[in-house]
Amino acid sequence: MANNRNPMLAMRDFLSALTLVTLGISAVGVSAAPTSGFGQASYSRAVGLFSHRGGLCGSRFQPAALVKSERRLRSSRRTGRQSNTEWVTIPVNFHIISANDTIQGGGAVTDEQIDAQMDVLRDSFATARIEWELLNVTRTTNTTWFNSIGREMKAALGSGKAGVLDVYISTIAGGQIAGYVRAFPSRFNDDPTIESDRKMIDGVVIDWITLPNGPAPDILLGKTLVHEVGHWAGLLHTFAPGSCQGPGDYVDDTPAQAFASHLEISANITTADQCVARDSCPNLPGSDPINNFMDYAAEVCQREFTPGQISRMRGILDLYRGIRP
Ligand SMILES: *[C@@H]1O[C@H](CO)[C@@H](O)[C@H](O)[C@H]1NC(C)=O
Ligand SMILES: *[C@@H]1O[C@H](CO)[C@@H](O)[C@H](O)[C@H]1NC(C)=O
Ligand SMILES: *[C@@H]1O[C@H](CO)[C@@H](O)[C@H](O)[C@H]1NC(C)=O
Ligand SMILES: *[C@@H]1O[C@H](CO)[C@@H](O)[C@H](O)[C@H]1NC(C)=O
Repeated sequence: MANNRNPMLAMRDFLSALTLVTLGISAVGVSAAPTSGFGQASYSRAVGLFSHRGGLCGSRFQPAALVKSERRLRSSRRTGRQSNTEWVTIPVNFHIISANDTIQGGGAVTDEQIDAQMDVLRDSFATARIEWELLNVTRTTNTTWFNSIGREMKAALGSGKAGVLDVYISTIAGGQIAGYVRAFPSRFNDDPTIESDRKMIDGVVIDWITLPNGPAPDILLGKTLVHEVGHWAGLLHTFAPGSCQGPGDYVDDTPAQAFASHLEISANITTADQCVARDSCPNLPGSDPINNFMDYAAEVCQREFTPGQISRMRGILDLYRGIRP
């Protein structure tokens, strides 16, 4: 990871097979003290993680697959089967991978942190009428897996079920990435031969440092998981594919956005009044959706999915994950 100007290049080998979706942030709350118990090293890593994440991001969902999925989604909506107003409940498994039982080793994620993370998930998806039910928490100590999460670990721990959210908590790429999902939900339908590999491909991976009440509670509020679960449910970044032209994120009510908010806003954002949206597509309506979970603004700014995103998630959860009222 020596090349800070483009860490993505340095990680290309590791990441080549991944669809990498990271949650960026512009905030660097240097004035806040580390939470007692976590220590300065963890705090510094959290700050470092989020202060140069700009170069790490990039959804690698294949455009052709998205077009195909979009067509299928629109035709399924025409059947009128989908309801966005009735609640659905999605079971969640947390798999905590640690190197050892110290905080630096990732093994000290507490049950209280998991509960707090579940609360953030519930609050964030409430407008989408999606409820989350904690099914199981597994804890595994394995230094190899901690340092490089992969198919073998997922095969051992994953549910393998389309309608169950498996969350793997670890470090990723030496702690330089906040989280990712590897496969767009339609991938298993596009290629049914890999359905048997779902266990090894599906799910969400996040760094333990991003959980609420962690080492940097002023900047990391548990929104990383919300963002990644947005991808798991079929959302793209609001700034996809990085241009004012084209289909964007396939959602009509998110303004066109040419690049992520954290590349544009400059400061250490720890309070909501500091969330000032820019306008990366000035010739098109709307300013950048700095309050959206699928942008990359500071976590304190992130508080909503739009009705269009909700409709898309509910449609995709129904179509590809069998999740419906
Ligand atoms: C625990 O794991 C972390 C991360 O790999 C490592 O930095 C630390 O030295 C380990 N501590 C012990 C006591 O093994
Ligand atoms: C929960 O995880 C444990 C440990 O891996 C496993 O033995 C158990 O079967 C799991 N329970 C459910 C309901 O998945
Ligand atoms: C830890 O990971 C290694 C390498 O993937 C694997 O061979 C081993 O079975 C794992 N150990 C446990 C206890 O899961
Ligand atoms: C964040 O704040 C610190 C101290 O207030 C300042 O030195 C630093 O330049 C700021 N960082 C950015 C990206 O604005």
